[in-house]
Amino acid sequence: MAAPSATLKKESLLIERMAEARMRTDDIFALLTPNAYYDRPIRERHRLIFYLGHLEAFDWNLLAGPLGLTSRAPELDKLFAFGIDPVDGGLPTDEPKDWPTIAVVEQYRRDVRSRIDEALRMQDISTSKDGYLADGTLLHVAIEHRLMHAETLAYLLHNVQVDRRSRSLRRKKTGGARRRIAVWRFLRGLRRWGRNAPRVSLDGTTNSTRSRCWCRNSRSMRCP
Ligand SMILES: [Fe+2]
Repeated sequence: MAAPSATLKKESLLIERMAEARMRTDDIFALLTPNAYYDRPIRERHRLIFYLGHLEAFDWNLLAGPLGLTSRAPELDKLFAFGIDPVDGGLPTDEPKDWPTIAVVEQYRRDVRSRIDEALRMQDISTSKDGYLADGTLLHVAIEHRLMHAETLAYLLHNVQVDRRSRSLRRKKTGGARRRIAVWRFLRGLRRWGRNAPRVSLDGTTNSTRSRCWCRNSRSMRCP
């Protein structure tokens, strides 16, 4: 069998890194109880349910066009790209009832992931007419965006009420010193992991400015 080309190796590596980034953010969401998804741990930020859908909405809005995919849920693509803005420009005023159920969001996530993954499996993206897809930049952006939110979620988690955290985390948090150290190491690891992730800008250069927000810089989407 012929050895895979450098292009295929690069694509495989990016897809592998995407899967790893998803695993990391899934692990963070698994630390929450269902009720916590409708909490707003920091008053200036969205409710956590937004972030559950946001990561997939960002990937979809970024990759669907270049991959030739058509949306099945355009209203969710938009809701989880922008969130619900306050009417008067002040603090967010949306209520839990304004958001879809967890089941709806989970279905949306599964659908987005499976369709993107299938397209990436079936297509040779190196021949795409979209230069940013062909050279891997868009996949880098999706990975970077997810890792950035892993960091965001890590500090949001600090503000979630103890009884809204999963039992395993609660035990660690309220147990002995050994358990508290485990939680601290977990969150510290998330921050380090995000810091060390490779960064690529839309123009293809590496080591982009750390404070850069992909949501605001890529294709008119913003980072809430
Ligand atoms: Fe974002």
